[in-house]
Amino acid sequence: MENKLKISLHDVSRTFPGPQGEKIEALHNINLEVEDAYTAEGRDVGELRVLLGPSGCGKSTILRLIAGLDRPDKGQVLVNGVPVTGPGLDRGMVFQKYTSFPWLTVADNIAYGLKINGVPPAERKKSVKHLVEAVGLSGFEQVYPDTLSGGMQQRVAIARTLAVRPQVILMDEPFGALDAQTRSDMQELLLRIWDETASTVLFVTHDVEEAIYLADRIFIMSAHPGTIVEDVPVPFGRPREPSVKQKKEFHELQGYLLACLRRAPGRGQVRVSI
Ligand SMILES: Nc1ncnc2c1ncn2[C@@H]1O[C@H](COP(=O)(O)OP(=O)(O)O)[C@@H](O)[C@H]1O
Ligand SMILES: [Mg+2]
Repeated sequence: MENKLKISLHDVSRTFPGPQGEKIEALHNINLEVEDAYTAEGRDVGELRVLLGPSGCGKSTILRLIAGLDRPDKGQVLVNGVPVTGPGLDRGMVFQKYTSFPWLTVADNIAYGLKINGVPPAERKKSVKHLVEAVGLSGFEQVYPDTLSGGMQQRVAIARTLAVRPQVILMDEPFGALDAQTRSDMQELLLRIWDETASTVLFVTHDVEEAIYLADRIFIMSAHPGTIVEDVPVPFGRPREPSVKQKKEFHELQGYLLACLRRAPGRGQVRVSI
């Protein structure tokens, strides 16, 4: 169980000053735990958790706290029982906006984290080759990211994050800016990589269908203040095929989640893609 990982938030609150100097309680007493799952034989099968909620309910704030990019006003953010005090290689983040370095080629972007960690060139080359294949970028190693489509750029961002083998990957609406077909391709890509790496992923979305297709469990959030209102298990196994979206149980769960989100205060822009 070498990758055993547990993220815990205990009674976490975070308040920001609003435009008129008022207090905006972005998060109020958040309690959550994300822990790798294991088979009966003790094999780590990772965990894919989704945070689902309307715009402004505090999803990005939760990821930023876990990433160590922000601090709570109250409560604790722990990784394996140790308080988070700043960013670390054990936690990788993929944002909605493409975050690759425009002045580096695809291969150099993917190798960047390895390089700054002192991984020798031969080993870097091997990792890059493997990752380029895993995310479907073969043939594009020497081009610059801004010449690529949005979906391809996100492949670069995912490969860059995977390169340093983080224990947890934090994904903040990574496919939110993509068209429907590319989005669907990227969801499949993520599931395939996730199956292979057995990593822990905490994935943020406001898209109900995306949440069900990807998750083992879904935390449903409501806004103003941001709270977790429900922790819903997803009853579909792995590997998960896109055809699962046609199942009656899928549509029933979609209806249930939408009803939860409608009941929750502060509902705003929740995307319903059917
Ligand atoms: N740095 C900040 N300064 C002021 N307000 C912020 C800041 N970050 C987030 N907020 C506010 O906190 C709330 C939650 O934001 P966010 O975590 O980005 O929500 P989500 O990702 O779910 O859309 C929103 O009302 C947002 O305006
Ligand atoms: Mg956000």
